[in-house]
Amino acid sequence: MYKKFLDLGKQPLANKFLTKTEISKKEDFYNLSIGFNKKNNLVSILKTISSKRMFNDKYPYRSSMSETMKNYFYELSKKIIKEFNPSCFLEIGSNDGTLIKNFDKKKSICVEPCKNHAKITTKMGYKTYPKYWNLSLAKKIKKENKKIDLIYSANTISHIHDLTSVFKSAEYVLSKNGILIIEDPSLLECLKLGSYDQFYNEHIHVFSLLSISKLVRKQNMEVYNIETLNTAGGSIRYYIKRKVNKNIRIKKSVLLLLKKEKKHGLDKFKTYQLFGKKIRKSKQKLRKIFINLKKQNKKIISYGATAKSCTVFNYCNLGKNLIDYVVDTTPEKIDKYTPGTHIKIKKYKKNSLNNVDYAFLSAWNFKDEIFNKEKKYIKKGIKFITHTPKPRII
Ligand code: TYD
Repeated sequence: MYKKFLDLGKQPLANKFLTKTEISKKEDFYNLSIGFNKKNNLVSILKTISSKRMFNDKYPYRSSMSETMKNYFYELSKKIIKEFNPSCFLEIGSNDGTLIKNFDKKKSICVEPCKNHAKITTKMGYKTYPKYWNLSLAKKIKKENKKIDLIYSANTISHIHDLTSVFKSAEYVLSKNGILIIEDPSLLECLKLGSYDQFYNEHIHVFSLLSISKLVRKQNMEVYNIETLNTAGGSIRYYIKRKVNKNIRIKKSVLLLLKKEKKHGLDKFKTYQLFGKKIRKSKQKLRKIFINLKKQNKKIISYGATAKSCTVFNYCNLGKNLIDYVVDTTPEKIDKYTPGTHIKIKKYKKNSLNNVDYAFLSAWNFKDEIFNKEKKYIKKGIKFITHTPKPRII
């Protein structure tokens, strides 16, 4: 049973960028509320949208749009190959192939339900299943391929409502000593950073080690190692094995993180109630910043048309009256409008920050990359606005 602790109001689908004709039509909204389930320590959104509506042939998010992610996946693939040297590798949520392109085509399999992305990896020569990850697909994959000895999935499992099915299916296709590696945003970091924008229709859950441990235990699996990462605003990489595989010992990092999460009260509802209170205050502060700047006739844009900023804009009521336009590099988002708030998205250019006074850091998780890219304009005096870890001007 989930207990609600935060109401982020009426929200549109975060990656449903609108065309000019679509903005005059009726848009679908749902209520974005977050709850805590004491039984399995899961923190999840309470109303979910069907996968088919979110992950279809027009899904705009592409991992390759950030240099940080391209380098990150390149380095990670080297590490995976060195440590595991998989003879059959499966990636769940392979997107546009940014990670898998570093793996041997003959030894790798992609699972990607967004057909526009699945087409890309198929074209690249990878065996791709353009399907949702569930038991019926796991059965098909097991029938048609060798036993999988390594599954990897980044920022995908948290998008799936039925987690029992996720881990059951992984267990089903894995070889006896097979390993499952997943990584997703960290709940502890989300609480510390006040990054409530980690919640939107696609981010159904924000995981902790406490919750993942309980979920995998149901499939007789266990987390034997974890790594804390800077990606996606602070993430955890979980290494999971079968309990019967005694060749691998549980690392001390697992016990230490479990202890830390308990110390921060991630297993207590009270912690989330306090988080909810903090976020309600954060909304007021952020609004004040924008309103004050606009009173001074400042030109404010948003840097990145992120899904996360959809939650911020709609929750904090930041619309066209406060944000002049958004800049982004993704071809699928350019010349469209932000969901709910209908702010125009323009193509990012090297001189996009010319004549801009303030830019909201929508892609705050890429702060270093952006600050590095915009050094010249930062020197000239452009300022950034952020809501995390608290609303302020940088
Ligand atoms: P990300 O933070 O991964 O977002 P989401 O909240 O959607 O999961 O999204 C990055 C978005 O920001 C993507 O649309 C590309 C855009 N972007 C830029 O336009 N310029 C940049 O320098 C960076 C790093 C991202």
